[in-house]
Amino acid sequence: MEVNNWTQLWLSYQKVYEGHGTWGIGYSGFDAENRIVESAVYEFRTAMEGLTGENVVITDSEGNVKNDRILSLVKDESIPKEGYRVESGEYGATVKAPDENGLLYGIFALIRNVACGKKPGEIKEELSPSNPLRMMNHWDNMDGSIERGYSGNSFFFDKDSIIISRRTRDYARFMASVGINGVVINNVNVKDAASYLITDRYFDKVKALSEIFADYGIKLYLSLNFASPIELGGMSICDPMSKEVIDWWKGKMSEIHLKVPELGGFLVKADSEGRPGPFTYGRTQADGANMLADIIDQYGWIIIWRCFVYNCTQDWRDKKTDRARAGYDYFKDQDGDYHDNVILQIKNGPMDFQIREAVSPLLGGLTRTNQMLEVQIAQEYTGHQIDLCYLIPLFKEVLDFHTYCREGCDTVADVVSTRTFGNRLGGMAAVINTGNDYNWTGNDLAAANTYGFGRLAFDTSLSSEQIAREWIRMTYQLESDKEDILTDMLLRSREIYEKYTSFLGIGWMVTPHDHYGPSIDGYEYSRWGTYHRADHLGIGVDRTDKGTGYAQQYYKENAQMYNDPKTCPEELLLFFHHIPYTYKLKSGKTLIQYIYDSHFEGLKEAQELAQSWERLKPVIPAESHERVSKRFELQLVNAREWCDQVNSYFYRKSGIPDEKGREIF
Ligand code: GCU
Repeated sequence: MEVNNWTQLWLSYQKVYEGHGTWGIGYSGFDAENRIVESAVYEFRTAMEGLTGENVVITDSEGNVKNDRILSLVKDESIPKEGYRVESGEYGATVKAPDENGLLYGIFALIRNVACGKKPGEIKEELSPSNPLRMMNHWDNMDGSIERGYSGNSFFFDKDSIIISRRTRDYARFMASVGINGVVINNVNVKDAASYLITDRYFDKVKALSEIFADYGIKLYLSLNFASPIELGGMSICDPMSKEVIDWWKGKMSEIHLKVPELGGFLVKADSEGRPGPFTYGRTQADGANMLADIIDQYGWIIIWRCFVYNCTQDWRDKKTDRARAGYDYFKDQDGDYHDNVILQIKNGPMDFQIREAVSPLLGGLTRTNQMLEVQIAQEYTGHQIDLCYLIPLFKEVLDFHTYCREGCDTVADVVSTRTFGNRLGGMAAVINTGNDYNWTGNDLAAANTYGFGRLAFDTSLSSEQIAREWIRMTYQLESDKEDILTDMLLRSREIYEKYTSFLGIGWMVTPHDHYGPSIDGYEYSRWGTYHRADHLGIGVDRTDKGTGYAQQYYKENAQMYNDPKTCPEELLLFFHHIPYTYKLKSGKTLIQYIYDSHFEGLKEAQELAQSWERLKPVIPAESHERVSKRFELQLVNAREWCDQVNSYFYRKSGIPDEKGREIF
């Protein structure tokens, strides 16, 4: 038996109170032998034994085993899909659900409530998921590396083979416990061995993985290489309108269906950052997506098509081309053309997962197309899981954003949940932050993002604080004053990171390629379309009607608001406007003084985070405390570097000294 050499994260099931007696399970409408029902019962048993010391015994059909309490699993089709109703009392507990996934989520809700300190009799929860698709996207490569991975190597792949271990099952358990129902196992940049995931070379293992996922109600998805007809089929083209190409895909998909029937579908990154796509043949994105979607519709599969399409070979001298515009420019015209088993996956912002950027105007800008929100919990631009950055507040801002696409039902949360337009598909996906590190996420505290994303995707009305507290309770079980300290650390961390890095929506200024640490001009004269345009007088990108016109991609209310620096939310000022250093912000501070102040503040507050963590030393398990402390040491070096480089850079550019006379280099 393989040794379990990793943490159990929020499912560690440490004792919360001393219970006594036994539980029996009663089934009504659910088949005890169904794979998901079995997983649910397994979880309940393990959890109750750990959390309370109570035994769970299965009552036999004659009712011969006498139990102190009964857990009744009841099928109730009046509850919305994948939802549940949980209740507990002295008699035991009841979980009602319309389907197996709902039952599993109900059991996990029961466990969460117990783990968070609720006693039987106090638990009552009724919920159905806000989003139909709740997905994790792995950027794992088959050689074992992870693109933008900060917590070790892949636990799915190594040296071009697929790994199946107890870790796989634990991973599925973690995901199901927060309501994830779809996982893409391989990187969107499909190259080399990954192109062969849809061939005989890997079918057996992909199927085995999909079965483990299926035990936990999770569908497995694969990222697809659009040029497969060339790379696998030996053809000279992959034109989506070519009959030979279509025939090749038909044969391929039927083969995949035969071998891996549990699959959910495919994710495609096309015509983006060097990946092949329909543009090569003068076809639209819709032509490419629909061709694949039509072939797989018969299998009940879907195509998730990414909207991260832009020109990555821009000339920095060219001020008219604006990368932020690209998604909308490429996709808005074909709104309504996509078939109904295609869903467009749209990054939260029009650039690329910055610490702050505007919300993509495609979200809600598309009104006749299935759409889902993509966020990144892998901390590519937000501190590499070295720096503490709890991202749920950022995601909440995006979800709560009013698009003005329809009166009364216009937030991003409304749109992607399918409430607004009644689309067939909708949801949320996150680029995940896990790897094969002992603690899964590099920084122990980064698991709050893994947990939080799932919880938020399932219930977008949860607050950042509530999610943080749940995660802390399930992971560390702290006394309430200590829980307050850690909650406060998590809740402040994103703003602190923003303060010492790039400000007011300008983004970037990071070390090229690696994306950790400052390099103010690192991308300024490059091809990537990620400029700050700072000179001796001011900084920012003019995206108004007099600039690139990006602001006009929004509905009128937002377009007007963003177009004017006076009404533009200040935290996005430099995303939309080129502003002089002497410009007075609402606080009365000049822009340059704001830059200095926020950076010194950010550094100081990062130090406070580290001090707070030190105060928690007596109550956090030693090894976890030490791992995180080491990260804080690095975070402080990073914060100082950012603070000093940004301040020195803008002092040298502007020639305007800090009013407070602090040290700038
Ligand atoms: C970013 C990231 C890439 C990734 C890309 C994507 O640009 O740096 O590594 O491939 O996003 O989302 O496809």
